[in-house]
Amino acid sequence: MRPSLQPRSLMTDDPELARAWRAQIITLFPEAFPGVLGLSLTGTALKNGLWQMHTVGLREFGEGKHRNVDDTPAGGGAGMVLRADVMGRALEHARATMPPAAPILYLSPRGRPFDQAMARDLARRPGATLICGRFEGMDQRVIDHYGITEVSIGDYVLTGGELAAQVLLDATVRLLPGVLGNADSATEESFSDGLLEHPQYTRPADWQGLPIPPVLLSGNHGEIAKWRRAEAEALTRERRPDLWDAYQARDPE
Ligand code: ADE
Repeated sequence: MRPSLQPRSLMTDDPELARAWRAQIITLFPEAFPGVLGLSLTGTALKNGLWQMHTVGLREFGEGKHRNVDDTPAGGGAGMVLRADVMGRALEHARATMPPAAPILYLSPRGRPFDQAMARDLARRPGATLICGRFEGMDQRVIDHYGITEVSIGDYVLTGGELAAQVLLDATVRLLPGVLGNADSATEESFSDGLLEHPQYTRPADWQGLPIPPVLLSGNHGEIAKWRRAEAEALTRERRPDLWDAYQARDPE
């Protein structure tokens, strides 16, 4: 038999890829993907089939000759709302190829705040369907009907969900087995104690008259670890009282 000319990412009978984490993204701008996710570690992981990315262009499910996707809000008011029928068709299409354990998430400033624990939970699932909104949001009936979880990446309003989806995917994909080298996984460990990371320094030892803290050049690994811990604690206490309180509640020492 001739070897398949299909790229690995399209070979569905490949058992490796059957297990690959799957991102299904519903968007008006499929060309925005993979964006920054196509670079560096996430990009290499995508090329190597450690995760898969599929986009569903919302416009293709639009109404009429102009493929309309939105309409004015019921009850009046500014802006436009994504239509329930259009989003429903796009979701049915997207869901058909997704495992039931993959959640449907809608990126929205109204959503539950995205955090490292959520990234860890998503990385343990087979994938996720992400809906990127635009305009004033989407018809509430779709959210209720499919039990969609709304997720926010922070208390500010973006023009659309595409950048938010990329943030969520980056944080999730880097936790998939094999995506990070061992050196990088340690970084994740340090965040997972709930502290902000200590400051880092590298060569030159003296820059503009500013030396590297001498303990870091001492070769005393015990003292270095103590210094880093103290710096991480001080930084967390000063910048993120919310994280500091949670950290202390877990480990009062
Ligand atoms: N869409 C618009 N703003 C957003 C935010 N802050 N988080 C997630 N999705 C969004």
